[in-house]
Amino acid sequence: MAMSTHAVHSVEAEPDAAVIVRQLRPTAVQVHVFRLDQPIIITIDGPAGTGKSSVARALAKRLGLDFLDTGAMYRAAAAIALDYGIPITDADRLVETVKQADLHFDWSADPPTILAWGRSLSDRIRQPDVTAIVSPVAGIPALRQHMVAKQRIIAQQHPRLVSEGRDQGSVVFPDANVKFYLDASAQVRAMRRAQQLRAGGIPADEQQLLREIVERDRSDMSRSDGPLVRPEGGIVVDTSHLLFDEVVSELESIVRRKAEEP
Ligand code: DC
Repeated sequence: MAMSTHAVHSVEAEPDAAVIVRQLRPTAVQVHVFRLDQPIIITIDGPAGTGKSSVARALAKRLGLDFLDTGAMYRAAAAIALDYGIPITDADRLVETVKQADLHFDWSADPPTILAWGRSLSDRIRQPDVTAIVSPVAGIPALRQHMVAKQRIIAQQHPRLVSEGRDQGSVVFPDANVKFYLDASAQVRAMRRAQQLRAGGIPADEQQLLREIVERDRSDMSRSDGPLVRPEGGIVVDTSHLLFDEVVSELESIVRRKAEEP
């Protein structure tokens, strides 16, 4: 069936593909008709610990798309605040310094690495002191404005993209072709995080991790600007009881079902 890539069709929501998959807005929904060999944006949002980043990256690989980790951009801003001694209450100075850092990705790396002043921050942004302050940093409205603008420019340069974060389907790319929201219970997410830490030889207190996760959710969901929400028209996938490959396959098959044959 030959149709314009950007045509908009009204279709009945499909019945649940599996118990764990739920489409927001159960009645008729507007979807953009798209093909897998054309520009395409898929967004994946959701709280920390749902495996979002790894899933987004694997999905992008399977579909031959680029992968944008927007959390890395907020983490880079947090690292800059720490390393340049900028208090996170000094939003103007932080945003100005982040602008000067000219954050961008090295797309020749897999996954792409984030650069500030041309230098890689890929290790720095995963360190615990960065994780500890990133949520309040990501709550700074002027910083979000800057990041959203950057993310839209990146999508122009990489028009076949899986973009992962908290506000990608709701704020940054509301017209994305497919929007996913990955979820999992806080207990499962704390358990996964504890397993990850222990696998790396770091002792983990699951109850403490659970408290941190609940607090980070609260902070990400309650900020006024770009809060973590389930985007309108998004497809909610609960990963609590699924293996990694099952999640990726579920998302892949949803995208392929929704796409038109080339
Ligand atoms: O996904 P992550 O843990 O790398 O994200 C780091 C922080 O950045 C986390 O507190 C949520 C926030 N974030 C955000 O507010 N908006 C995004 N698009 C991506 C991440």
